[in-house]
Amino acid sequence: MMSELPACVMIFKGNGLPGWGANRTGRTWLGWCGLVLLGVLQVVAADPVVPAAVPERTGREIYETCLLCHSTREMQRGPILDGLPDWYVAHQLRKFKKGIRGGVPENRAAALMVPVMDTLKNDEEIQRVADYIAELPPQPHLLVIRGDKKLGKTIYTRCIPCHGLSAEGNRAVKAPPLSLLEDWYLLDQLRKFQRGWRGTHAEDMEGRLMGLGVKVMPVKDLRDVVRYIAEDLPKVPPLQPKQPPHPSPSQ
Ligand code: HEC
Ligand code: HEC
Repeated sequence: MMSELPACVMIFKGNGLPGWGANRTGRTWLGWCGLVLLGVLQVVAADPVVPAAVPERTGREIYETCLLCHSTREMQRGPILDGLPDWYVAHQLRKFKKGIRGGVPENRAAALMVPVMDTLKNDEEIQRVADYIAELPPQPHLLVIRGDKKLGKTIYTRCIPCHGLSAEGNRAVKAPPLSLLEDWYLLDQLRKFQRGWRGTHAEDMEGRLMGLGVKVMPVKDLRDVVRYIAEDLPKVPPLQPKQPPHPSPSQ
């Protein structure tokens, strides 16, 4: 059957055989061609090698793969992300994807995110996992950074224009809420901005903006401002450290 195909091609090109239905031979050839094409179409339609559509991963399914590092389930390496707005999460993920974040060799924590980005197939997956994270309720956490929150309150007035009065964040300048992040992570990132481990890439407009403000701040001021944010502006009341059990009266 396939041997008829070259003749068909020749008819369609208008050489070798008479034109469209010009005489009986032509019509016969056209008839053959029709049959051949029909056969080919049927074969294509029934072709079992056409791949079945792969089901899309939901935001929740994607997030399960992140919890290895973004929860207290295993050894936690990254921040708890629950409740961060989707615009911030998606924007940061795109930065990791493009190498705008994660490319500073000293920042080994951020380098962990680089292979993760290969597991996200496309921008829809980025948006889907960001939407899912935004819907999760923020989690309470322990306060572990010591600092003077009264002094921190004064220092925080410098952060208000971008992060808001209650550290709720400001989409217009792409500044994230700080009120739901753990205190150790806040200090860790502030130190990274200071050292130039974050916010120095030429295309990192927001990171560079953020870095400018903290470059010359003493570490003591950073601790104070973090204590203020974590203790007085939290989204959920901080967890209380567990007290050691009381000794029993008989001891
Ligand atoms: C192997 C550990 C690991 C895995 C798996 C991982 N992350 Fe991360 N992630 C980190 C670390 C560590 C950081 C902090 C980077 C830094 O210090 O700059 C981070 C940072 C982030 C940030 C930036 C947070 C912020 O406040 O700026 C986002 C967003 C993020 N991860 C999302 C994800 C998502 C979504 C997944 C799953 C698809 C994921 N991560 C999987 C380790 C991981
Ligand atoms: C000029 C605006 C501006 C000011 C002022 C500012 N920030 Fe930021 N901040 C940002 C932006 C924008 C980002 C997001 C950076 C990015 O996209 O990587 C950010 C990010 C951060 C982060 C990282 C959060 C995360 O999830 O990783 C911390 C912590 C932070 N700011 C704390 C502060 C503190 C504390 C102050 C005041 C001392 C302050 N910022 C002042 C704009 C600002």
